[in-house]
Amino acid sequence: MDYDLLVAQAASLLEGESNLIANAANFAAFIYHEIPELNWAGFYFIAPSGDLVLGPFNGRPACTRLPKGRGVCGAAVTSGKTVVVDDVHAFADHIVCDSASASEIVVPLHAGGAIVGVFDIDSPRVARFNNADRAGIERLVQVFLKPSESELMQ
Ligand code: SME
Repeated sequence: MDYDLLVAQAASLLEGESNLIANAANFAAFIYHEIPELNWAGFYFIAPSGDLVLGPFNGRPACTRLPKGRGVCGAAVTSGKTVVVDDVHAFADHIVCDSASASEIVVPLHAGGAIVGVFDIDSPRVARFNNADRAGIERLVQVFLKPSESELMQ
C-alpha cells in the first residue's frame, strides 16, 4: 500500500470543508474503496452516556450502539491507543456486526485533549493489518481530524 499517496489524496478530498458529517462520510467511503480486502470502514462517536454511536460508514449496516468500554472499539477508547485484532473470533469481547469480519483495526479519535470516537475498519481476511497498515491508517485518521477537530470538540 502506498500510504503516502493515500494521505495526499485524503487531504485533497477533505480540503476546504470543515463539516463533520460531510468529511466523515467521504473519508469512510475513500478508505473503503482505496484499501483492498475490507468489508467495513466507518466511525463511531461517543455519546454523553459513554456509549459509541454509529456514524458515517461504508459496508453493510452495522450495530447502532456499542456499550461503553465494550468490544474492540471500546478497548481503543479505554486505552487511547490503536487496537489491531488479527482474529476477531479469538478476541473475547469482540462485538459481531457482520459475520464476514475476520480482522479489525480501531483508531481512537483524539480532539481537544479528549477521545471523541473511533474509526473502525474490518477485513474478511485474518491478520489483514500489519504494522505498516497501522501506521498508515493512523496517518490517514490524522488527516481526517485536522479539518474536523473544531466540530468534534463541540
Ligand atoms: N467489531 C466492533 C464493533 C463494530 S463493527 O465491527 C462495525 C467491536 O468489537 O467493537
